[in-house]
Amino acid sequence: MQGVNIPKHVGIIMDGNGRWATARGQKRSFGHKEGSANVDKIVTHAFKRGVKALTLYAFSAENWARPKEEVDGLMKLLKDYLKKFAKKLYKSDVRLIVIGGREQLSNDLVKQIEEVEKKSENNKSAVLNIAINYGGRQEIVACVNKLIALNKEITVESISENLYTAVSGEVDLIIRTGGELRLSNFLLYQGAYSELYFTDVLWPDFNEEQFDKALSEFGQRKRRFGKV
Ligand code: IPE
Ligand code: IPE
Ligand code: MG
Repeated sequence: MQGVNIPKHVGIIMDGNGRWATARGQKRSFGHKEGSANVDKIVTHAFKRGVKALTLYAFSAENWARPKEEVDGLMKLLKDYLKKFAKKLYKSDVRLIVIGGREQLSNDLVKQIEEVEKKSENNKSAVLNIAINYGGRQEIVACVNKLIALNKEITVESISENLYTAVSGEVDLIIRTGGELRLSNFLLYQGAYSELYFTDVLWPDFNEEQFDKALSEFGQRKRRFGKV
């Protein structure tokens, strides 16, 4: 990957767990388990490549509409992931931030989130944002309401500075696995000028090599930001 322009902030829509499991005659929950087991490999690799912020779409504000059993399973996997992350924090300099509305999450999960965030808040080498109960539209509405309550002017900058991702800033590259060509309410404001990379590979199969392919493609894109 030498000589390639590495994006500072990468977002990943980790899609395709359900289809991965169905293709193997298994329940969707099996796909979520495999998908969650794949997270650390990609996180470690992305930071090794020099990415400074990684935002992972784990559960959307719209995913509550899934069967309760599936939702409960996903919530448990998320809690387990955060617990494991907290345990390994002594060897890591990564700051973890959970983005999304907390009101609908269980007290247990919120406690776990707060613990990891607190323990890692002074970590400096990179930021890992996990999007749980996240929606881009909901985020913008909450942000604008906050600015109004604080009697602050609504500007492009004041919104950017008050989004959940204030620390990581705009997203340079959004990767979506699983073959769908849409954003599904992910980082709508931060992604105004993101490069988009779609792959048919299902999330449990997405590996380091595929991540590098996305980076190489990003390196070849000409970002103009409206200029010539
Ligand atoms: C992504 O995989 C994980 C979540 C949305 C929580 P899906 O569960 O959407 O898998 P597919 O798209 O049905 O294959
Ligand atoms: C997007 O995937 C959300 C996550 C990956 C967490 P979905 O599977 O929910 O998206 P749609 O329903 O296909 O748009
Ligand atoms: Mg999906």
